[in-house]
Amino acid sequence: LVREAEIIPVRIAVRNMVAGSMAKRFGVEEGTPLPRSIVEYYWKNDEFNDPMVTEEHITAFGWAAPQDIDDMLALSLRINDYLCGLFYSAGLKLVDFKLEFGRSYDENGEMRIIIADEISPDTCRLWDVETLKKLDKDRFRHDMDDIAEAYQEVARRLGVLPTNGPDDVSETKIMQ
Ligand code: TMP
Repeated sequence: LVREAEIIPVRIAVRNMVAGSMAKRFGVEEGTPLPRSIVEYYWKNDEFNDPMVTEEHITAFGWAAPQDIDDMLALSLRINDYLCGLFYSAGLKLVDFKLEFGRSYDENGEMRIIIADEISPDTCRLWDVETLKKLDKDRFRHDMDDIAEAYQEVARRLGVLPTNGPDDVSETKIMQ
């Protein structure tokens, strides 16, 4: 079930609306729609607070090759299209999300770029289509309540909330 990957130290953010760091950086109101999806690259480095970088930084510093970037970009846009539809059908707007990638090698040494990360309400901004209620990690970031209920609501709408699982999600439990 688990495949080894060589982690690329670049985080990709795909944005469909202005929110979070983009709202702060440009002084634009959260929820402003973007005319087209915007893809941003960040260097994953805690010491330097994960600065935003361009493709030129990525290739100049050897974090990824031009072909890797092309693959990451194409995958990110396909994932965005797919997830926007999936979440919209569950009454949720996919405001933005982040992805991380790695290089995976098969038995012949052929490399391919794969997602090396989770996609969850921890890594997406998801707003209710009607009420614009935040159903993602921003509830935690902004000290709002009901975070577990919000995550369960997302799972319920997607039809993936285990109905026979424990209701108490405050601690990790193994479920079959
Ligand atoms: P940002 O607005 O803070 O740049 O975040 C953009 C998206 O990326 C948002 O959906 C939250 C997600 N994200 C993470 O999952 N982990 C992170 O460390 C950061 C900075 C953002």
